[in-house]
This record gives sequence, C-alpha cells and structure tokens, in this order.
Amino acid sequence: MPKPGKIRQRAANRQGERVKILISGWRIQRRIQALAKQIRRDFPDEPLHLVSVLKGGVFFLTDLARSIAGEVSFDFIAVSSYGKATRSSGQVRLTRDLDSSIEGKAVILVEDILDTGMTLQYLLRLFQHRKPKHLRVAVLLDKPERRIAPVHADYVGFSIPNEFVVGYGLDYAERYRNLPYVGVLSLGGNLKKEVAGE
Ligand code: IMP
Ligand code: MG
Repeated sequence: MPKPGKIRQRAANRQGERVKILISGWRIQRRIQALAKQIRRDFPDEPLHLVSVLKGGVFFLTDLARSIAGEVSFDFIAVSSYGKATRSSGQVRLTRDLDSSIEGKAVILVEDILDTGMTLQYLLRLFQHRKPKHLRVAVLLDKPERRIAPVHADYVGFSIPNEFVVGYGLDYAERYRNLPYVGVLSLGGNLKKEVAGE
C-alpha cells in the first residue's frame, strides 16, 4: 500500500504536473514557532491583531496565531491579483474587506508569499490610512528576485528562489493549497510560457 503522503500528492496532480518538496511541513512548523516568539518579544505587552490575506495566508495565520502567547485576535481580507495564471497581472483589487476596524491596534499583516510586492504595497497603503498603532508584515515565503514594489516584510519564514511554489495555502488554479509542505510546481512547457508572459 502506498504511503498516505504519496496518495495525497498523486490525487492532487493533473496532466503531468509535478510538485517537488522545497520546505517540509516540519520545517514550516519549526520556523513558525520561532517567528511567533520573535513577534511576541517585539510586542511583549500588546494585544496583537493578525490580518490574513485570503486564501493563501490562512494556514500560516492559524499556525502562527496558535503559537503566539498572550492576547491575539484575527481578521481576514481578500484581494485578487493573479486569477488562474502563475504570474501577476500587476492589478490588485479588494474583494473582501475586514470585519472590524484596525484603528489603534497592533496589526500584523500575514501573507503567504511576497513576490513582486504589488499586493503588499496596496494593502499597506490601505491599512496605513486606517491608523493602526503598529503595522508589521509577516510572510511565510519571500521571493526577493521578483520584487517590483519597494516593500519589505518584518518577519520572513523562508527566502526562496524564483520558482512557482504551491502548498501550505499557496495554489495553482485553486489546487494544491492543502499540501502540508511547500513544493515547486512544474508543468513542463506550459508553466514556463505563462511565467514568461507568453
Ligand atoms: P505579489 O503581489 O506579486 O507580491 O504576489 C503576491 C501574491 O501572488 C501572493 O499572495 C500569492 O497569492 C501569489 N503568488 C506569488 N508567487 C506565487 C507562487 O510562487 N505560488 C503561488 N502563488 C504565488
Ligand atoms: Mg496570496
């Protein structure tokens, strides 16, 4: 009988798509513990309000929130930028706003990945207008080579090379989000053409 991990991966794959593990679930969890401690050290006495960007940042938020000691609340926002493609259109649109005000709160924006930085730039501008007491950014993954917008994250899980990754919240056409690890997706020729903008 195949191992459970193998069944999961095979069931998710389509049309010759391949996912090669880049960061194991275990490494992700260990890194999140360290980030949670660092965040709490930086804000020892404050209630923290985590805001996750749907849907990719959800697993990161739930694991991070459970690892930060003390008072923590959270909320969700959604933007669309990628559609079904593997490259950014550069356009960011708000599709779901927060439930509650962030004014006066110590806010940590929790994102799955910092790529061109267009999404983060848009969200930081939006949030700064709403007058939080503190505004910090936590990203699980950072692809510094792809940066266009001049933004940076205060807390970074892993810096990764310029590859299209899926898993642990990150998707390709809404698939692969449920993988417990982060892996590099290869589609052969199709993916290379899409990334190159052809
Ligand atoms: P940015 O606006 O280019 O920084 O892109 C941010 C968003 O693009 C992320 O929140 C992801 O939803 C998506 N994205 C960027 N790179 C990847 C990737 O390698 N895999 C999956 N989604 C990605
Ligand atoms: Mg995202």
